[in-house]
Amino acid sequence: MIYTVGGIKGGSGKTTISTNLVVYLLKQGRDIILVDADDQESASDFAAFRLHTLEGNLGYTAVKITGSELNASVAKLAEKYDDVIIDTGGRDTVSQRSAVSISHVYLVPFAPRSLDVWTLGKVEKMIAEMKPFNPKLVCLAFINKADPRGSYKEEVAELLREATNIEFIEASIGNRISFANSVGAGLSVLELKPTDDKAVKELEQLMNAINKAVDNKSERR
Ligand SMILES: Nc1ncnc2c1ncn2[C@@H]1O[C@H](COP(=O)(O)OP(=O)(O)O)[C@@H](O)[C@H]1O
Ligand SMILES: [Mg+2]
Repeated sequence: MIYTVGGIKGGSGKTTISTNLVVYLLKQGRDIILVDADDQESASDFAAFRLHTLEGNLGYTAVKITGSELNASVAKLAEKYDDVIIDTGGRDTVSQRSAVSISHVYLVPFAPRSLDVWTLGKVEKMIAEMKPFNPKLVCLAFINKADPRGSYKEEVAELLREATNIEFIEASIGNRISFANSVGAGLSVLELKPTDDKAVKELEQLMNAINKAVDNKSERR
């Protein structure tokens, strides 16, 4: 499976979600490659932190690929790995479009903040433009960084439910220090000690919901 984590907003949690997805799949015994398609290189930074924390034991393959040839390179890599995760930058770039063109699943996190939600129209438009090149692409939106007491989350959920071309996943990820701290150490919340049970549960529920949505969409075809 090829997953692209993207969107048209920086700071929405793309790298946090990509890296947690990588470790989630690793724990299922899968052979994973994480493609850093962002010139800011946060996924590569994560790999460097992880190598330090785990004393050289990365557990997955890390590469950086950007530009219009990304899809061709990923197509070759996909033959050799169980899953490919592509972490993109928060802009509508050639790299992100190239990644979307070759992916099975396009995951778009939205922080429940107005500036983030305003990018929804651009994401919908980009998907509409990319669909002819990749008609089977499964596009999924979800909320990341939800504040426990924030009422805005429900308003944003409402907007995302009504989006076109992208399905809303009801499982959301909270704004939790454990997500920020674990990524900073090159770890997933699944690996952080002491364990933040709520964060782990949220991540597992999100991953289950993603799998379910992908299965449903595939069956309908
Ligand atoms: N669920 C979360 N809870 C707490 N902090 C988060 C969460 N998701 C992301 N962050 C923090 O928000 C910032 C941006 O996240 P990042 O994953 O780098 O976003 P992006 O890759 O979309 O730019 C980072 O400081 C990260 O630690
Ligand atoms: Mg990033």
